[in-house]
Amino acid sequence: MRVLVTGGAGYIGSHTVLALLDAGHEVLVVDSFANSKPTVIPRLEELSGQHIPVHAFDLRDADKTERLFADERIDAVIHFAGLKAVGESTEQPLAYYENNLGSTFALLRAMERHDVRTLVFSSSATVYGEDAPVPYVENRDHLSSSNPYGWTKVMQEQILADVAAASPGLQVAILRYFNPVGAHESGQIGEDPQGIPNNLMPYIAQVAVGRRERLSVFGGDYDTPDGTGLRDYIHVVDLAAGHVAALGHLAANPEIAVRAWNLGTGQGTSVLEMVHAFERASGVPIAYEIVGRRAGDLPASYAKTERAETELGWRAERSIDDMCADTWRWQSANPQGFPG
Ligand code: NAD
Ligand code: UFG
Repeated sequence: MRVLVTGGAGYIGSHTVLALLDAGHEVLVVDSFANSKPTVIPRLEELSGQHIPVHAFDLRDADKTERLFADERIDAVIHFAGLKAVGESTEQPLAYYENNLGSTFALLRAMERHDVRTLVFSSSATVYGEDAPVPYVENRDHLSSSNPYGWTKVMQEQILADVAAASPGLQVAILRYFNPVGAHESGQIGEDPQGIPNNLMPYIAQVAVGRRERLSVFGGDYDTPDGTGLRDYIHVVDLAAGHVAALGHLAANPEIAVRAWNLGTGQGTSVLEMVHAFERASGVPIAYEIVGRRAGDLPASYAKTERAETELGWRAERSIDDMCADTWRWQSANPQGFPG
């Protein structure tokens, strides 16, 4: 298939570009570089040995999006493009609603006009909201969130379901990611947050490499085995493979209009377990202190994984130790992230 990857220069998108090429698909990328650097592209080309056409514009520019679909043959779209920082979304809600919904509107319009019928969408475990019991199951009726970023995912899932119901032939796979971490085993691409990392793994990696002094562990008094929060960390290379599996599943099952799958491991790992795993992988002690809870954090989040296993034939294979070793390879080889 010829697959348009929106946000293909970003963290998960870049790893998925490699997985798609490896599986024999053709890829083209659209990215505004709002949260990524163009220098990722030559690395992807070197790793894959293939030329990757890149269109640098904001998907909300409906004319440019329309022209891209008019000019290029596109069989399927994987839609990663979006803003993703939970805290920032509470400070700039309008920017999040505008960007995340606006890019999806422009994309859906262009897909409709050019009869592109396959879409894989990046959703998040955040749509299970604050009250759902763990492990999270896909057939939960009421989705919600505690922050504007999460609401953009809930709203986009609803929009996609409505559009799919009204568009015979359109197929939408909604993939709800748990906590993507890790990096490509080459150490050439990985997560490169701008500014102070919001998420645990990049923060630990930056402490290990000397860019940050110490990790603040948000809360040591949760009702969990060691008092720190439990999350379902999933290696980004496993996650990327889940997208290839979803494309294949839609192609093999044309009756599917819209369906959601969790992409996680089903295992909860605590903050302190992750700190110690990273110390083992890197050989570097990680300074940390336990501070108060972060607003909006849940004690535990992990996936029920059966649906993806039985239907997509996909399961996460890489361990927490793999996630730490690969993150460290990327971070130690690229202490300041991508150049540029
Ligand atoms: P990322 O920021 O690294 O990648 C997103 C890419 O989209 C960036 O390269 C950015 O420049 C681009 N982009 C943003 N808005 C755009 C627009 N309007 N037009 C064109 N390009 C645009 O993020 P990521 O971690 O790779 O996440 C990818 C997707 O997965 C996002 O939709 C995110 O919400 C979702 N997701 C991420 C996580 C996570 O923890 N990383 C968890 C669940 C869901
Ligand atoms: N944590 C720390 N210190 C830090 C950062 C995180 O102790 O500096 C802790 C958090 O309290 C939490 C765990 O590490 O217990 C994981 O936190 P992350 O910020 O890495 O991940 P979250 O689970 O909070 O957020 C992720 C995604 C969001 C998504 C959310 C819900 O980043 O996009 O899952 O699915 F919305």
